[in-house]
Amino acid sequence: MTAPATPDLTGRTALVTGASSGIGLPTARELARYGAHVLLACRGELKAAAALDHIRRQVPAARVDFVRLDLADLASVRTLAASLTDRLDGLDILVNNAGVGMISRQVTADGFEMQFGTNHLGHFALTGLLMPLLQARPGARVVTVSSDNHTEAALDFDDLHAERRYGRNVQYARSKLANLLFALELHRRARAADLPLLSLAADPGVTATDIGVLPRPVTLLMRLFLKSPDQGALPSLYAATSAEARSGEYYGPGPKRCTPGDNALDESAAARLWEASEKLTGVHFATLPSRGLPPAETNL
Ligand SMILES: NC(=O)c1ccc[n+]([C@@H]2O[C@H](COP(=O)([O-])OP(=O)(O)OC[C@H]3O[C@@H](n4cnc5c(N)ncnc54)[C@H](OP(=O)(O)O)[C@@H]3O)[C@@H](O)[C@H]2O)c1
Repeated sequence: MTAPATPDLTGRTALVTGASSGIGLPTARELARYGAHVLLACRGELKAAAALDHIRRQVPAARVDFVRLDLADLASVRTLAASLTDRLDGLDILVNNAGVGMISRQVTADGFEMQFGTNHLGHFALTGLLMPLLQARPGARVVTVSSDNHTEAALDFDDLHAERRYGRNVQYARSKLANLLFALELHRRARAADLPLLSLAADPGVTATDIGVLPRPVTLLMRLFLKSPDQGALPSLYAATSAEARSGEYYGPGPKRCTPGDNALDESAAARLWEASEKLTGVHFATLPSRGLPPAETNL
């Protein structure tokens, strides 16, 4: 894999969820540096304003805007999608980056377990509702951020919201497995429908951010050994922009192509998760067939 040339995204529109901090902020900043109009989809206006400020200082020519999104509230996801559908004529890049991790059990506005609800169901609904805008731009890319720790997980379809048994790490790993199952299933369904949509997944690698907050001395010590958020953003940026990146692939630190765990390649689990996600969110990907096909070896 050769080093990516600086892409020219002039005239393109990108949306990055969770762009207020962590890995999402440099992801949004670099997409803006490449010339895209970048929408920072964040839940808090103050943090978003600081993020916009940071980007405008680093990239004076940046075209960046804040759009409000709380992935833990389907009404907010629907409101944003409706307003973007009114305002935009297409969307070229969607980076499903936002996430919460390793928290005590909480529920979203819709009663979903918070990690599964925010990390997977919120992004599932957002992507489904933005499909008309994505389809308006042939070659549009959806990048979904997963994690290496998905390999440790197995979905419990009888207890997706971990009501019977909750473990903060287990449920985070499940949400990251759901992210990867979704990205690969979206790829298969887009291919089966002959849609020029690319769906890719990324793993930032272990990165010093606020996720899974640890006691301060531990965090400070760990920061010496972990990737910076700028480094953590590279796999997402590669998936979102490189001419060499392929739909249906998973990119990790390097950036280089990674092999998903066997659990993420389970197509019947992916189809089952898709059906459950449609039922829970009420969002249907109207233009896609109901079942996936085997993974492709070539790009769309
Ligand atoms: N850091 C790592 O080592 C690592 C490793 C593998 C994968 N990842 C993945 O990388 C992604 C980014 O995480 P990070 O490490 O950058 O963590 P982070 O610093 O905690 O950033 C998470 C971002 O998600 C946003 N967010 C959380 N809940 C949200 C909601 N309900 N609606 C909208 N936005 C919400 C946060 O917004 P606020 O600013 O408002 O809180 C923040 O901008 C996640 O998907 C994570 O699972 C991280």
